[in-house]
Amino acid sequence: MSQEPVQLEAAFARFDEQWSPRIVTTVNDYDVRIAKVSGDHVWHAHQHTDEFFLVLDGELSIALREDGTERVVTLPAGSVFTVPRGVEHRPSAAAGAKILMLEPSGTVTTGEHADTADGTVPSHQGIALDSR
Ligand code: NI
Repeated sequence: MSQEPVQLEAAFARFDEQWSPRIVTTVNDYDVRIAKVSGDHVWHAHQHTDEFFLVLDGELSIALREDGTERVVTLPAGSVFTVPRGVEHRPSAAAGAKILMLEPSGTVTTGEHADTADGTVPSHQGIALDSR
């Protein structure tokens, strides 16, 4: 992993794929990932890890299913939120957003139970910024 500084706006300019996080650096065994997002992600959960979100630009909504109820948290730019491990969630950004996530390296973007059959949301473990 590069030890050079990463300027986030320059990093965002290097890719256009939605919901397809790029790994900009690592902290111990965690990835710092950035993503461009638009529209709806899929419902999913990460059974073994919390998932941290920081909204850099735009607005992100995250629907959550907890204790048999559903709610939506709204995160304007500058907001942080952590989805607890095991909680089903579906991020959305009707007007698009740029986000930063912190999660253990290897965490799959769609968790363990996502329905990605329609192929609209990529499923992977984060892509190195230098990769295409
Ligand atoms: Ni997630």
